[in-house]
Amino acid sequence: MPRKLYLISYGCQMNDYDSAKMADVLAASHGYARTQNPDEADLLLLNTCSVREKAQEKVFSELGRWREWKAADPARVIGVGGCVASQEGEAIAQRAPIVDIVFGPQTLHRLPQMLDSTRSTHKPAVDVSFPEIEKFDALPAPVASGPTAFVSIMEGCSKYCTFCVVPYTRGAEVSRPLDDVLVECARLAAQGVHEITLLGQNVNAYRGAMGGTRERCDLALLIDYLAQIPGIERIRYTTSHPAEFSDALIEAYAEQPKLASYLHLPVQSGADRILGMMKRGYTRAQFLDKIRRVRAARPDLSLSSDFIVGFPTESDDDFMQTMDLIAEARFDCAFSFVYSPRPGTPAANLRDTVDAAIKEQRLAILQNRIRQFDDEFRQGLVGTTQRILVERPSRRGGGQMAGRTSSNRMVNFDGDASLVGRFIDVTITAAMANSLQARLLTPVA
Ligand code: SAM
Ligand code: F3S
Repeated sequence: MPRKLYLISYGCQMNDYDSAKMADVLAASHGYARTQNPDEADLLLLNTCSVREKAQEKVFSELGRWREWKAADPARVIGVGGCVASQEGEAIAQRAPIVDIVFGPQTLHRLPQMLDSTRSTHKPAVDVSFPEIEKFDALPAPVASGPTAFVSIMEGCSKYCTFCVVPYTRGAEVSRPLDDVLVECARLAAQGVHEITLLGQNVNAYRGAMGGTRERCDLALLIDYLAQIPGIERIRYTTSHPAEFSDALIEAYAEQPKLASYLHLPVQSGADRILGMMKRGYTRAQFLDKIRRVRAARPDLSLSSDFIVGFPTESDDDFMQTMDLIAEARFDCAFSFVYSPRPGTPAANLRDTVDAAIKEQRLAILQNRIRQFDDEFRQGLVGTTQRILVERPSRRGGGQMAGRTSSNRMVNFDGDASLVGRFIDVTITAAMANSLQARLLTPVA
């Protein structure tokens, strides 16, 4: 019987990616299999996120819920990883003695040794260091689980936006060497993967070493190399920073058809005063200029962003500038949040001047506006032909299959399971609340 691991993952795509890697590492070292039933597990991992909210408190109250689980069998092991672990380190095991392992986003590959150590010494194993890129060398070879895959190409962030905890919890930007990324993608392609999403907190800061030379490969060049790997038909990346959204990357939208027509470019605010206080490193005009040029390069682009409302001192006028920017850029998708002061960040020292009710009101106004643009975008697809990569049976059931457009919209259509992993052309027939309906354009042989 394989040992069972119960894994709870909070937060972003990067965290989901890390969680999958934790499971891979433990499967390779100790034969662990993931379970959805904690009662059959002897190892519990919490992969935490501290980008927003009172993450620390959430983790301790979650841990409280696992006290009985551990008491039922003291040989059970509890590990806390991710950004809260990175920030709190040893303090976690001191405050919650049921915790046996504390590991950071950059030390998850050391989980097997930490597990052995805590089992033999009965003492907590703590390692939240940043051993740079060693993590990737120590991870097992990737195993595809469908036609799409995530590949992490860089770690950390060196931008130090005044509101953000990531540079402190994940460390400075470090890029994987180009060859390592290409080998991983080629291995995935050989297993039937057709779409790769390149991941990084700041993925367009990628500067991968190029075997034996002193040159560095940027994201635009990496995309070109990837496009040459047989089987790779679609390339996405997330999440990128506007200051490093380079001319070469804009050009890629004109010249590289395998680059998906979807761009997530977090702007945070439309007011220069707030952008300056956030230390974002660009102005509203510079941002809009890049959007104008990328739209010219790829007219059917779906444009997504991140927004923070209620940053300290944000006035009605600042917020209106954000709303104007949304109208000008026509974002059809967004992740938007009320500002949440993060301990240890410069902005946490600013007086939080915006009333909580006003923050919520601004968030609702902003989200409504984006929803309108999303509706318009999806309605605009009705009647068009779209190339979709079929991913799986539709969650709506009814014998339908589901695939994704280049613009990252989910499409359901009548078809059979043999289409999974294939690109097919469909005509969009209707736009529903969260998905599109379509019919196969031509019968697929
Ligand atoms: N690299 C990206 C960029 O260029 O901004 C962002 C990565 S960050 C981990 C993800 C998102 O979380 C940010 O874009 C921001 O909107 C949100 N975020 C980060 N810190 C936050 C805070 N203190 N309060 C509210 N939202 C926050
Ligand atoms: Fe955070 Fe700014 Fe980096 S939002 S992840 S410090 S680009």
